[in-house]
Amino acid sequence: MFYQHRFDRNTPVEDVAGTIADLIKEGKVLHWGMCEVSAETIRKAHAVCPLTAIQSEYHLMHREVEKNGVLDVCRELGIGFVPYSPMNRGFLGGDLNEYTEFDPHNDNRTTLPRFTPEAMRDNYRIVNVLQRFGRERGMTAAQLALGWLLQKEPWIVPIPGTTKLSHLEENLRTLDFTLSAEEWKQLEDAVAAIPVTGDRYNAEQQKQVGF
Ligand SMILES: NC(=O)c1ccc[n+]([C@@H]2O[C@H](COP(=O)([O-])OP(=O)(O)OC[C@H]3O[C@@H](n4cnc5c(N)ncnc54)[C@H](OP(=O)(O)O)[C@@H]3O)[C@@H](O)[C@H]2O)c1
Repeated sequence: MFYQHRFDRNTPVEDVAGTIADLIKEGKVLHWGMCEVSAETIRKAHAVCPLTAIQSEYHLMHREVEKNGVLDVCRELGIGFVPYSPMNRGFLGGDLNEYTEFDPHNDNRTTLPRFTPEAMRDNYRIVNVLQRFGRERGMTAAQLALGWLLQKEPWIVPIPGTTKLSHLEENLRTLDFTLSAEEWKQLEDAVAAIPVTGDRYNAEQQKQVGF
C-alpha cells in the first residue's frame, strides 16, 4: 500500500496517478492511496489509476468527510476509507487533560490548537459523555471512539496508534461489543451537541489539506 501524503499542488494529480500506474505495471507498488484530498481530486486520480484507500482525519470530534463528499465518493467508487487519529490523537481515550505536558521535541500535539490547555479543558466534556455512556455498557471511552467509526461502514477501517500493549488489547476488544444503531446515534448526538474548542490544525498545517 503506497500513499501520497500530502497532495502536491505543483504536480497535476493525473501525473501522480499515471506514475503510480507505471510503478504498478513494474510490480513495485501493489495498491495506492491518497491522504486529505477532496472528492474532486479522488475522482480525477481514480479515473487514471484506481485508488484502494483514502486516509483522512475522521473521528467523533472531526466529521468533515461526512459533509465534503469524500465518504460519498469512496462509497460510489468502491474505495476504502482509513480514518487516521481515530481517537483524536488520544484525546478521546480520556488520558489527556489540561495538565498534560507533551514533549516539545517529539510530539506534534504541541502545535495543534485543539491541544492547548484551554481547549482540552473545554473539550473534556466530550470525554465525559463517552465515559458516562461507556459505564452503562462496560466499555471504555477509547472503545466507544473506535466502535463508532467501525459501525459506520464495513469499508471504513480506523488506524489507532499506541505505545502500550494494554491499550492495543483494549482497542482490539472493541470488536467484542455490539451496540444497536439507536445507541450509536444517541452517543453521536450527545457528542455533536457539544461545541469543539480549537481548530484541528494551525494555519500552516491547514494549507496542506483539502485539495
Ligand atoms: N495521514 C496523516 O496525515 C496522519 C496524521 C496523523 C496520524 N496518522 C496516522 O494515524 C495513526 C494513529 O494516529 P494517532 O496516533 O495520531 O492518533 P490516535 O490513534 O487517535 O491516538 C493515539 C494516542 O491514543 C492513545 N491511546 C491509544 N489507545 C488508548 C486507549 N485505549 N486509552 C487511552 N489512550 C489510548 C495513545 O497513547 P498510548 O501510546 O499511551 O497508548 C496515543 O497517544 C498512525 O498510524 C498515524 O501514522 C496519519
